[in-house]
Amino acid sequence: METWINEAWEYALGKLSRTRSRIGATFPNASYGGKYDARDPDCWTNGFWPGMMWLAYRATGDEEYRSIAESCEEQLDAPLQEYEQLHHDNGFLWSLSAVADYKLTGNTLSRRRGLIAASHLASRFNLKGHFIRAWLYEGSEGLAIIDCMMNLGLLYWASEELQDPRYRHIASAHSEMALREFIREDGSVHHIVRFNPETGERIEALGGQGYSPVSAWSRGSAWAIYGFAIGYRYTGDIRFMNAAKAAADYFAEQLPEDLVPPWDFRAPVEQQWAKDSTAAACAASGILEIAYLLEGEESEHYRKLGAAITESLFRNYSPKDPAEEALITRGTGSFPHNAEVEVPIIYGDYYFLEALLKLKGENEIFW
Ligand code: GLY
Repeated sequence: METWINEAWEYALGKLSRTRSRIGATFPNASYGGKYDARDPDCWTNGFWPGMMWLAYRATGDEEYRSIAESCEEQLDAPLQEYEQLHHDNGFLWSLSAVADYKLTGNTLSRRRGLIAASHLASRFNLKGHFIRAWLYEGSEGLAIIDCMMNLGLLYWASEELQDPRYRHIASAHSEMALREFIREDGSVHHIVRFNPETGERIEALGGQGYSPVSAWSRGSAWAIYGFAIGYRYTGDIRFMNAAKAAADYFAEQLPEDLVPPWDFRAPVEQQWAKDSTAAACAASGILEIAYLLEGEESEHYRKLGAAITESLFRNYSPKDPAEEALITRGTGSFPHNAEVEVPIIYGDYYFLEALLKLKGENEIFW
């Protein structure tokens, strides 16, 4: 194993053990002035900190990580009950908390939480348009987003757990829709597609968190790479692997020298100063997933690519200030909404940690 991987792991673990002492079982979303903030329990990013705690627990056996993750999971029971508040983010929230707990400890209450979250997600499926509705607000009945690819593992897991294909059918139907409607010929992706919720007919693509309906939001590519790879892991459907590879190849071709993309590959040059390290970290972990699922030279190609992106994040994007709590800097939540631009973001940290563990040989995932 390359020496930088162990260096990066020690760096990450040192930081996590310091940060957990200050923030405990809270829900950080982004870091400002060197310190993670704290969100209310219903934020879509609230699975990532418990997910990091479970990753660290699995790797070290340190009970303090487990106890923080368990406490976060309990706090997520409130949003799990709030039907009127839940969007489609159930995989982000409960794959990394309850399902992770169940996979590692066999906790039956965690299993039930995961199954409730999966059932809620399945209920958002629009049968006419074959899409999972993304949000709740009035007027969003026909909106599907590429991010949802990352939530589908929860449905595949539920099908395996219950020995009942219903959830898998929904995840695969949504994925087939995404193959047709979201992935472009060149491997780039749309962020949002609007359907008529009554007839299921496609109406239009929207720019969303990307620059425009025809641009290429880099985190959208990352969601597609990893989400389709997970679909292949659970189903063996080669179309999903081909989509994951097409999205990964497009992502790789567009990358600048330091292998960390701007927030949108097709944003005007004067806006490309804003990087998105979260897209790099998620894509790296997704590309390592592709490598794990393939064999031979192809596998080696994607492993090298995933490793190179992760190494650049460690060497060029770990904060200069040792007091900074986050693992990597320069994430961008949403440039068009001026939200979390060029700040460390928790999901960048999660995927960076997950990628490091894959490079250390741990390829089981909570998704
Ligand atoms: N799922 C929301 C985002 O990627 O910002």
